[in-house]
Amino acid sequence: MPDKRSPLSKVVVAFGDDESSVAPLREAFPDLTIEHATADSLNDRIVDADAVLMGWGSADEVLEHGQKLVWIQNVGAGVERLVTDDFRERDLILTNGSGIMAPNIAEHVIGLMLAFARRLPQLFDAQRERRWRADVGRESVTELTGQTAVLVGLGDIGLAVARRLKAFDVTVIGVRRSVGAELPEHVDEVVATADLDSVLGRADHVISSVPHTPETVGLYDAARFAKFKDGARLYNVGRGTSVVQPDLIAALASGKLSAAGLDVTNPEPLPEDDPLWAAPNVIITGHTSGATPLFEERLFALFSENIRRYVAGEELLNVVDQERGY
Ligand code: GLV
Repeated sequence: MPDKRSPLSKVVVAFGDDESSVAPLREAFPDLTIEHATADSLNDRIVDADAVLMGWGSADEVLEHGQKLVWIQNVGAGVERLVTDDFRERDLILTNGSGIMAPNIAEHVIGLMLAFARRLPQLFDAQRERRWRADVGRESVTELTGQTAVLVGLGDIGLAVARRLKAFDVTVIGVRRSVGAELPEHVDEVVATADLDSVLGRADHVISSVPHTPETVGLYDAARFAKFKDGARLYNVGRGTSVVQPDLIAALASGKLSAAGLDVTNPEPLPEDDPLWAAPNVIITGHTSGATPLFEERLFALFSENIRRYVAGEELLNVVDQERGY
């Protein structure tokens, strides 16, 4: 347990529309004061709080007014808007929402892969024009069966994708910071990020779930696309900053890449006049892969378990390494 952990007395939940979401927490932890805060009440309620469940978009207020805070549980997995030098100096415990959205993001990735394989965008276009089948046939579809995917980032999302890809008999190569002693389940091979280029040439599919950090900005540029297998497909469910978009557009236009499934872009929202919208064989899903009806249920289960651990002096789940940034 980190030394900086002081006793919890008041917890603020700055997430959800109303009080009802905090009732189970109050029941589980009757010794704690647990308050729900809306945008209007947040600044007042956070003043004497020790911990906060921080929703989307409330970071500045939380940090400014929550001077007594010792622990922030972030709703999302990405923490780049929070972890600045000033934040690091405050020496807070920071946990994130990694894993909450992994199953649905993995399904989203599989959906994109199947859409390209079965030429669904072309078939949708044909349907809109009331045209039977257009030019889709055996010379233009592909099968995932027997193909190879490189998963760049082997966190909760990468592992959830790997698990599903094995059902399609896809060979799964994982890329992560360090190889590690044990091969994760559903992964056939692991290489270190430094060796990314050595496996890219084997990948029919490159699936990126890396967070925004100084190391991942511009990771996919022209030089890297040159290392891809001809006709490979790129999927991005991490952060848009990892892709140099003009380079991606060029790689798609030349046919070096045959398709890209992008849930994230840079910037977001993608401006209406951005050329990426019209790049060949691109599906842009507007940062929706994280959406799931099970979000709140999984979030509160995680937060509740972390409060229990905090109070019991046990290691918290999803502690962010603030130097690494994830
Ligand atoms: C969503 O993008 C997240 O960071 O959780």
